[in-house]
Amino acid sequence: MGSTDRIILVLGATGQQGGSVTAALRAEGWAVRALVRNPATDKAGALDASGIELVSGDLADPASLRAAMRGAYGVFSVQPSSGQGAAYGVSDEDEIRWGKDVATAAGESGVQHLVYSSTNAAGPERSGMGHFDSKSEIESYIRTLDVRSTVIRPSALMEMLLPGLGLAEGCVTFFMRPDQPMQFIAAADIGKVVARIFASPETFRSRTIEIAGDAVTGGQVGQAFTRAAGRPIGYQRFPDSLLESDRFLGRLANLVDEGRLAGHADLAALRQEFPGLLTLEQWLVEPGKAAFRAALQAGGDLALR
Ligand SMILES: NC(=O)c1ccc[n+]([C@@H]2O[C@H](COP(=O)([O-])OP(=O)(O)OC[C@H]3O[C@@H](n4cnc5c(N)ncnc54)[C@H](OP(=O)(O)O)[C@@H]3O)[C@@H](O)[C@H]2O)c1
Repeated sequence: MGSTDRIILVLGATGQQGGSVTAALRAEGWAVRALVRNPATDKAGALDASGIELVSGDLADPASLRAAMRGAYGVFSVQPSSGQGAAYGVSDEDEIRWGKDVATAAGESGVQHLVYSSTNAAGPERSGMGHFDSKSEIESYIRTLDVRSTVIRPSALMEMLLPGLGLAEGCVTFFMRPDQPMQFIAAADIGKVVARIFASPETFRSRTIEIAGDAVTGGQVGQAFTRAAGRPIGYQRFPDSLLESDRFLGRLANLVDEGRLAGHADLAALRQEFPGLLTLEQWLVEPGKAAFRAALQAGGDLALR
């Protein structure tokens, strides 16, 4: 735990990952600057009210990235992706260009440490999913640059388990089979990991770290949800008919079966380096409790991306 007045520019600070990183960096005493598209939104206003410096900018505008990085010690880089659904309007080409532009701007702006958030499905072999292969390409580009960098590869977020079909009706539905383990991380832990990385830059220089807090089978998710809800919650994999008719969901399920998306993080080693990573049970107590309760009431849809 150290106190510093050095500035970290956080991208996506109004979102899940950037929001987590912003909170964790602030808690460790860093000065956080958030790049926002629209300072007038409620989420941007909440950042402003909590003492975060806001700068207007857009991933699609490299000049705004360079301006936002002026005087910054570090940058946390995350991009939206096509995996978040067509409504989001981001193509794989957008994501790749934006991720590379952030890294280029960091190199040109004298930034001393770039932390890039990728995915645990990234790697040298193509996955066949655009929003995973995009991140592999951004990772490779970052490694060619003369800037100190660290890549984190988060597993699926625990938050992703909530909008599945039928939680309000007593059943959680996701990609793994009932007896198949899959790794997950709490969104809140991404920030804690990133804060630790910025605090020990040389320890994490040039490293690529797959991060997760727990590995649970579908059946174990049902059991944990049952305990947290105080009533029976079953577990089922998405129906085969859906996985066959929806190519996107079907390919994700295949990648879980092949192991690539199930996660390979060494949880014991991670706990040594990043103490306090949350298990699913712990996340359901806090910080996931409110979202879990809301999902139990509201039911869900297939907004899984
Ligand atoms: N969900 C998972 O399990 C998981 C796991 C590993 C990796 N990922 C990856 O995580 C990424 C998404 O991260 P997230 O969940 O933190 O996203 P999120 O909650 O949807 O937030 C997206 C953030 O990006 C900002 N943004 C969007 N377009 C922008 C633009 N053109 N210029 C500047 N900022 C822009 C948004 O700001 P506004 O307030 O302006 O909208 C928001 O702050 C995706 O690449 C996804 O593939 C997800």
